[in-house]
Amino acid sequence: MSVILGIDIGGSGIKGAPVDTETGKLVAERYRIPTPEGARPDAVKDVVGELVRHFGHQGPVGVTFPGIVQHGKTLSAANVDQDWIGLDADALFTEATGRDVTLINDADAAGLAEAKFGAGAGVAGVVLTLTFGTGIGSALIHDGVLVPNTELGHLWLKGDREAETWASDRARERDDLNWKQWAKRASTYLQHLELLFSPDLFIIGGGVSKKADKWQPHLKPERTPLVPAALQNEAGIVGAAMMAGQRAQGQDH
Ligand code: BGC
Repeated sequence: MSVILGIDIGGSGIKGAPVDTETGKLVAERYRIPTPEGARPDAVKDVVGELVRHFGHQGPVGVTFPGIVQHGKTLSAANVDQDWIGLDADALFTEATGRDVTLINDADAAGLAEAKFGAGAGVAGVVLTLTFGTGIGSALIHDGVLVPNTELGHLWLKGDREAETWASDRARERDDLNWKQWAKRASTYLQHLELLFSPDLFIIGGGVSKKADKWQPHLKPERTPLVPAALQNEAGIVGAAMMAGQRAQGQDH
């Protein structure tokens, strides 16, 4: 059994748990610390350090981030403090924890976990996971292999609106939409994605995944099967641990 600590940085909470990366199961209860106001790098770094100490964890750590992550650097910050842009967050967290940290985009982590252990387990071909929350995150996976940082929440629809500002869960709350009205917007978005990617499966994750009974009957891609995420708020933690595990294995060879 290979156990790796996964940490998921979200807008309201930073959550961690040790994960058995062979089964995708948490091996201890999740521990959650509220996200510090403004989610500035130094404050978030301290929370990540506290989580690692809480579990007394040895070995590599996987950490999610709600923005572009390339070669350990955070390159966008749509819903967090702008100081993250261009920051070597991998080095920041490595220093704070004294562990080998692997950073991954939050939706990429959720998509990896769903594809291996959740709603996409055993599905061949192109699996597109979308997380609807404060923003819209995306994870494009082909036969289990992730194409990182697709950022499809920032796709422009009909020329003048960004998908996540119009169809995220936050947009639903802001515009006081009922689930059917929200699903109509989300369907327009999914139909556009179908045209671009022809997925074999859509997985709908993020905050809305807990309410699938409300939107599922109204969410209508034209030709692609669609399922709610299965791992819900554990997906980020599990995917972060999987990514750190993959990197540690790669380094062993
Ligand atoms: C960010 C993505 C992130 C998504 C969900 C978007 O605004 O650009 O990187 O995955 O929100 O948190």
